[in-house]
Amino acid sequence: MVDYEVTVYTGDRLNSTTLNPVHIKLVGTDGESERMWLRSLVIFSGSVSTYSVSCPNSLGQLVLIELDKRQFFLLPNDAWFPDKVEIKSPERDIYTFPIYCWINDSETHRFREGKALRIFDESNSLGQHARKQELRQRSVDYGWNFYYSGLPYTIKADGPTSLPNELQFSFTKTTEFAFTTVTGLAELQLKGLDDNRENWESLDNINEMLRFKRTVVSDYVQEHWKEDEFFAYQFLNGVHPTLIQRCKTLPKNFPVTDDMVFISDGSNLSQELKEGNIYLCDYKNLDGFPANTIEGIQQYLMAPLVLLHKRPDDKLMPIAIQLKQTPAEDNPIFLPTDSTYDWLIAKIFVRSADFSEHQINTHLLRTHLLAEVFVVSLLRNVPMVHPLYKLLIPHTRYTLHINELGRIRLMGPIGVFTKFAGSGGETLMKIMVSSLSSITYRSLCLPDDIADRDMQDLPNFHYRDDGLQLWNIIFKYVQGVIQYYYKSDDEIQLDSELQTWIWDIFKYGFLSQPQTGIPQGFTTVSELIKFATMLVFTSSCQHAAVNSGQYDYGGWMPNTPATLQRPPPTAKGTTSEATMLQTLPPINVTVQGMATTWLLSRETSDFVPLGHYPEDHFSEEIPRQLQKEFKVELDRLSITINNRNKDLEIPYTYLDPKKVENSVAI
Ligand code: FE2
Repeated sequence: MVDYEVTVYTGDRLNSTTLNPVHIKLVGTDGESERMWLRSLVIFSGSVSTYSVSCPNSLGQLVLIELDKRQFFLLPNDAWFPDKVEIKSPERDIYTFPIYCWINDSETHRFREGKALRIFDESNSLGQHARKQELRQRSVDYGWNFYYSGLPYTIKADGPTSLPNELQFSFTKTTEFAFTTVTGLAELQLKGLDDNRENWESLDNINEMLRFKRTVVSDYVQEHWKEDEFFAYQFLNGVHPTLIQRCKTLPKNFPVTDDMVFISDGSNLSQELKEGNIYLCDYKNLDGFPANTIEGIQQYLMAPLVLLHKRPDDKLMPIAIQLKQTPAEDNPIFLPTDSTYDWLIAKIFVRSADFSEHQINTHLLRTHLLAEVFVVSLLRNVPMVHPLYKLLIPHTRYTLHINELGRIRLMGPIGVFTKFAGSGGETLMKIMVSSLSSITYRSLCLPDDIADRDMQDLPNFHYRDDGLQLWNIIFKYVQGVIQYYYKSDDEIQLDSELQTWIWDIFKYGFLSQPQTGIPQGFTTVSELIKFATMLVFTSSCQHAAVNSGQYDYGGWMPNTPATLQRPPPTAKGTTSEATMLQTLPPINVTVQGMATTWLLSRETSDFVPLGHYPEDHFSEEIPRQLQKEFKVELDRLSITINNRNKDLEIPYTYLDPKKVENSVAI
């Protein structure tokens, strides 16, 4: 007889203890063990238990294990969450079997040994069979759902609690993140204001009523929101740093002339355009969509154009704003030299348009919904034993759960966005459809995006500086792992699972639109490295950059009104403080927006920072070492960013690796 030493690691999660008897069978290249009972009365949460499994002869190389948990007599059928099983063979080899999922039925579950295997590495017929069976089951468990014509497909589910348990929020996260505006209103001490439909009486009045839950940045915003320099700063380092681009030629529909804009040092607009000192933010994506009606009141959503100038002292300043796309007599070009309220109301309309463009296109579509497509395609097409699964699965945590919640609580018929945002309801969906039709692969890859926007050299662009460093660090890690498993382009082409995975992303995420430039298949190792880098970057860094500062920049409502309830002025000299206050959203709409952004900007206690891998999916030394090096480089970047921030008037923290979550989880 020979003995196998079996060590079972049970996850340290609430309710992961089991009272049910658990059985194991070891399967190797030379045979299989009996189905053995792991003799314990209870397998406790967080426990590490060792057992012995005896066999008449060695089983050869271990290929897989089978686990089952049966209900016993009068005991209830409970759920068990094993993390992994380690087995020491009689030959003293150590085999690790990553599990990391709930077992809550009485079925037999197969788990592969941790060494990554591509489909063409499978030489063992049992391994081949287990691989096929796993994917067959996954295609049943994780279906594609047609959500809305012209939008990415989503997971087929009836709300977050219908998702497989391991994809749902932990108990801790669920209790901390009730994600209802009632919770948000309570935390912000705004209860009672949510049914007050009056307009704000003054800015002081807003200040008095919204005095709770401030952040360093939200305080700064409140103090500086009217200033031109801060208005421009937000295009670089606020929550929406992806719209601004260098402008070499004025758009035809934005007829700003030399005599309108004051540019110092004897220069003029055409000279400054030529020298690359002019920048543009164009909200054309919002053009032509009707604004929402909120509580019976028509709202207003503009599609503005903003021109900015980089002065010789490197400060970026707005120099002209046109609120609608088509130039016309009743669509004046507002200038900093106009009256205080003319200029301020123009900036408020821009900030409100920015809220819609940021939330719908940049945040929701380009991070949440795309990340969901990446997850569903991975779960359906790539088995656990595949190196790509091991690389990407940590970057998918909670994404399906938060998106299911968002579809109900934000975008659903009674969702906050639907009820209280100027672009809510049908318009939200239409703007998103329009956004998807113009999305490109290059715009999802930060180095390409920065180059295409010609934003390489503008000073004080911290999103770009931190983001590019993060991109490079992620790229190096992803490259290390992928090159370890794929030694030639031929191997990439041979990997049918990899090819189906990317094809499904192209088909269900980008609706088979070739002009997006999204790969439809991979022919080289470097194509896969770039795509996987983009996926990890989008799910972690890009989401953090456009998510974490929502309350910082939106908590003081006048800086980011989610809707506006009067049309923009059609002539200069018609706006006063009173009309500005009538234009801003009323009290109840304001506090609903605040409560939501507060909840969505919070860090919960089971947050996993970028580059932390609490689950051991890789069992080979090189990828594990690459993960350690990845973390060291991220820690180093965090120190650099923190040192830089000490000298900044507004610290830019959203891309500090310690504050970036591994996945889209909120
Ligand atoms: Fe988010």
